[in-house]
Amino acid sequence: DDSLAQVLEALAADVARSAGRLVVDERPDAVEVASTKSSATDVVTVMDQRSQDHLLARLRESRPDDAVLGEESGGATGTSGITWVIDPIDGTVNYLYGIPAYAVSVAAVVGDPTTHGAWRPFAGAVYNPVTDELYRARAGAGSRVVRPGGEERSLTPTGCSDVGQALVATGFGYAAERRERQAHLLLDLLPQVRDIRRIGSAALDLCAVGAGLVDAYYETGLNPWDLAAGWLVAAEAGAVVGGLDGPGQDLTSACAPGLAPAFPDLVEEGTRRHLRG
Ligand code: IPD
Repeated sequence: DDSLAQVLEALAADVARSAGRLVVDERPDAVEVASTKSSATDVVTVMDQRSQDHLLARLRESRPDDAVLGEESGGATGTSGITWVIDPIDGTVNYLYGIPAYAVSVAAVVGDPTTHGAWRPFAGAVYNPVTDELYRARAGAGSRVVRPGGEERSLTPTGCSDVGQALVATGFGYAAERRERQAHLLLDLLPQVRDIRRIGSAALDLCAVGAGLVDAYYETGLNPWDLAAGWLVAAEAGAVVGGLDGPGQDLTSACAPGLAPAFPDLVEEGTRRHLRG
């Protein structure tokens, strides 16, 4: 119900903001890489771990019966049916280099976020601690951005309906084999659009579609924590959000309403050709 969603949206916003302040205020001059994951360039910094610990502690304190699924190792299992899907720093490579495009992403979801297509986000927040912009949304209630000073605005995607005029964001995974396939898809798309942006944070890419900063975004191979909150922000802003198999963790694209169905068709056809063999 909406009163629960309101409470969870407020909590998501609060914890995303406090973890974000931590990662930016305590960012060391030389950020230390703690470990690597899927490849040598897929890094976890000491601050990813600290941010995740902070989020886990705050969520457990407020909602002890909820489960938590975090990027940097699991979390609690719960009994409430609600799972928090958290990315302590989305855009870790930007964070490592000091490029000001990274975010803390926090979403409350129903269903099992580890099972493809079996879950949906219903409240969430994405916080960029460098620009101090907080994107927040809950199902059925639209999405907003809160700017420094507290000014709050609702989000609206662009009205772009022409693929040839579209500014399109995308991202790449870390594994070389996936990247090679993603490069082929990019090769198809780049000559057909206005231009491409690789911002470096899937959560911020999705918020950018909602806010009308780009016309569209696509990526394959994302994990639930990369997309849960941003997906809700984009969808609640009125963007068309989808995956190859409908809603679920395999998000393929988000775009201005006018670009649907041309853009999803274009991306999904290319995705099938290049990424699914
Ligand atoms: C990554 C970022 C990036 C996207 C990758 C993600 P991380 O998340 O969102 O933009 O292209 O697919 O893995 O590793 O920075 O949390």
